[in-house]
Amino acid sequence: MADTITIIDDRTGKKVTVPITGGTFPSSALRELDPSLFMYDPAYQSTASCASAITYLDGDAGVLRYRGYPIEQLAEKSTFLEVAYLLLKGELPTAEQYAQWTWDVTHHTYVHENMRKRFVDGFHYDAHPMGMFVSATAALGTFYDDAKDIFDKSSFDKQVMRLVAKVPTIAAMCQRFSQGLPFVLPNNSLSYSENFLNMMFRVGDDYKIDPVLSRAMDVLFILHADHEQNCGTTTMRVVSSAQTDPYTATAAAAAALYGPLHGGANEAVVRMLTEIGSIDNVPGFIEEIKNGSDLLWGFGHRVYKNFDPRATIIKKTAYEVFDVTGRNPLLDVALKLEEVALNDDYFRSRRLYPNVDFYSGLIYQALGFSVDVFTVLFAIPRTVGWLAHMQELLGDREQKLSRPRQLYVGVEERNFVPIADRK
Ligand code: ACO
Repeated sequence: MADTITIIDDRTGKKVTVPITGGTFPSSALRELDPSLFMYDPAYQSTASCASAITYLDGDAGVLRYRGYPIEQLAEKSTFLEVAYLLLKGELPTAEQYAQWTWDVTHHTYVHENMRKRFVDGFHYDAHPMGMFVSATAALGTFYDDAKDIFDKSSFDKQVMRLVAKVPTIAAMCQRFSQGLPFVLPNNSLSYSENFLNMMFRVGDDYKIDPVLSRAMDVLFILHADHEQNCGTTTMRVVSSAQTDPYTATAAAAAALYGPLHGGANEAVVRMLTEIGSIDNVPGFIEEIKNGSDLLWGFGHRVYKNFDPRATIIKKTAYEVFDVTGRNPLLDVALKLEEVALNDDYFRSRRLYPNVDFYSGLIYQALGFSVDVFTVLFAIPRTVGWLAHMQELLGDREQKLSRPRQLYVGVEERNFVPIADRK
């Protein structure tokens, strides 16, 4: 059977046959039939907007791979900085490349003093850390006069390295500001995750980083590093297509991530579990969800329809963390919620399963993070994925300025009515 599709315009009888490649066909075929014809696809549910070699995802099989490597292997055997290198450069680093990359990132963790003293200090005392993170990331770009040199490879690589190095510092500044705590300067002798935990939690000299917890942080960073064309990454690509600098584009992607339907779900899950309070309330809560009271936060995914492989790894990591920190009391509510939902026809028939955000919040909470900083913890590693996609887009000769069409459903032409004559 030929790997082609034939589209017939029944109005004119014209037809066009185009190849099917990797499950897609070029929508430009429609323009061959009629230049004024466009596909109407709200929320891009049936549209592949780019060709990408970064992340492979099979939603039905629950498969996720970065540059061909299964997420399970990376989470078990790799480090976040190694995965960041893999996503950005396409291959795992050699020992020498890894040492250089780690040194570079580790020695670019400081931000300009004005970022903290003038910019972050200017926020209202109860500003949401994610709102601060979005603004601070965009602001960071204004400190570098080469930020806009995106077609100079060495300059672009430098901005990438700066962003990867500095987003944990920005995140920690936002959290510490919210808590009224003094900022902890980066410590270049620590690993990426250890340094982040240190900046977040050190008060005085007595903060000891537990290796199980810093490894858990690293695993969470690995799991969140990329996820192909989700809402945030698509935003990154759309904004980057206008040749915006990587700091502002990252801020735009982070703004998309902020929303509760996307990365903000981890925060919503813990708020939901707290509201449910006890396993006795779970059946009643599920009934309310089925009656449309709210969403079951942390459940459902646009692409995964059987299980989210990241959720499976996160659940295992949660138990490792709880062995050190003590069991999060909300875990029992989460487990019961999962059990009831997975056995309920409403969720089964809609193929709704726990996603990455269902258990991550419980770990973050056990690690000591406040609920409103959870999405920032997602944005730190996802910055790597966003930048990998920006880099790929800039080198893709098929890409242009993103500019979808629309189906106009407004009123037809009419004449202006002077204000005195309006009813
Ligand atoms: N709780 C209850 N019902 C749900 C949920 C949920 N979490 N998710 C989907 N449904 C229902 C919808 O109401 C719809 O029901 P209907 O057919 O009776 O109208 C059906 O399932 C299909 O849902 P859609 O909204 O069409 O699915 P979509 O692919 O657009 O949504 C999404 C995916 C946005 C993730 C959705 O499942 C959701 O809102 N989940 C909760 C928020 C969440 O956890 N987001 C994090 C996703 S992972 C990430 O972005 C990092």
